[in-house]
Order: sequence, then structure tokens, then C-alpha cells
Amino acid sequence: MPVLAANWKLHKTTAEAIAWVDAVQASPLLGRADVVVLPGFLQIPALSARIGHGPIALGSQDVFWEESGAFTGMVSAAQVREAGCRYALVAHSERRRCAGDDDRGAHARIRAALAQGLTPIYCIGEGLRERESGGFQRALKAQYDVALDGLSAEQAQRVIVAYEPVWAIGSGQPATPQQVGEVAAAIRAGVLARTGLREGMRILYGGSVQPQNIQGFLAQGTIDGFLVGGASLDPEEFLALLKAVVGGA
Ligand code: 13P
Repeated sequence: MPVLAANWKLHKTTAEAIAWVDAVQASPLLGRADVVVLPGFLQIPALSARIGHGPIALGSQDVFWEESGAFTGMVSAAQVREAGCRYALVAHSERRRCAGDDDRGAHARIRAALAQGLTPIYCIGEGLRERESGGFQRALKAQYDVALDGLSAEQAQRVIVAYEPVWAIGSGQPATPQQVGEVAAAIRAGVLARTGLREGMRILYGGSVQPQNIQGFLAQGTIDGFLVGGASLDPEEFLALLKAVVGGA
């Protein structure tokens, strides 16, 4: 099934988050895609109670690699799982920029998430300078080589890789479907070669995805879904994306 993940970043109070879920939960389109909502940590318990065992899954926007201890401000994989999460975002570029997350840390976070039965959504992406200098494929490979190092094929299969070029995030300027197709093919080949995985790896695209441009990516047929920021905040817009993803547009 295709994946449609809503990364709310630092948006929405609990009341606003519940209103969103109430608006989306009624849609008959749910169940035809893996719909994942990534709210703020504080909104997770209330949303978990609201969605119950329904078709919307929850994920955290980060997870720390240690299970417990003297790590002020961190949140563990066991804690987010207990709160109702099934997914965990790892190393989003905004966390790389604001909180110093890197690929070594991503490696430890992915292992911690997997150990708790969470599905990690591991984010990679090149900056504008790397894109323009032409060395971006090497830079991307360096990212996942570190983060996925030593994972078995079975573990790697449970990791979702999200390709989010930094220059496309929140800029209104998405990568072209052709650019996404090229990178997705290279990531797939690179990860498969590194992990011994044969198939079944899921790759998402994120960066200024909107109802108006999602068809171009879908037409390429090279990715398994989307990680959406801005356009995921409004339930109507999110449902328009979902409609396109499940083939109803
Ligand atoms: P936008 O969809 O707002 O560009 O954000 C993408 C993103 O960072 C999702 O994780």
C-alpha cells in the first residue's frame, strides 16, 4: 500500500489536532493507504485515544536512542510506543539543522526504533549547493551508508527512507518528478546492495508536495508515497492528497 505521512512539525494544539483527525477519520479513502500522522509529542496521547485502532497510524517526529537514563529532554522509543506510536521520524533535515541530528545518531535511533517494533522513517536529502555542484548522489549515499550500516536485510526492510531535498522543503519549489525518480532508483539500488535486501524497500518523497503537483510524482511510479509538511495541515488538502495517492483523482 502507498504511504501518506503528515509531518505537522511545530504546528497544532491538541484541540486543533483532534479536529483534524475527526475531519479525516470519516473518509472512506482511509484503509487504501498507510496514513501516518506525526504530531508534536504532547499531542500523541490525546490523538491515540481519539483514533483507537482505526486506520490512522501515529508516529513521533524524533526518538532518542537510549531507553532511559540521565538524558534531559529526550524521548525514548519505548515511551512513544507506549503512547500509541507505530512510526518514528528519524533525522529530519530540520532536526539536523536545529538539534544537531546526524547520520551516526540516525543509525542509533533507527536501531532503537526497530527494537521497540516501530517503523523508522529515515530522512535524507541534499542541500542546494550539493545539488548544484553535482555531487549530491554521493552525499546521499554517504548518509544512508552510515545510518543503515550493519542492519540485516530483515531490519532494513522495516525502514522507510524519505528523500527530502533540503531546498525543496517548504520552498514551494518541489524537485521535478524526474529528479525524484532518478534519486529513488539510486537509493533503492544502493540500499539493496548494502543490506542484501532483495525487494520490499519503501521510499517516500517530501518537499513542497501539494494536491496540484502530486500527480506528476505518481505518474513516475518510482516512489511508494509521500512525507508532507505544509499541505498536510489542512484536512481538506490532506484528503485531496490521499485521493490522488489511492488513485481516485
Ligand atoms: P513541506 O511539505 O512543507 O515542504 O515539508 C516537507 C517536509 O519537511 C516533510 O517532512
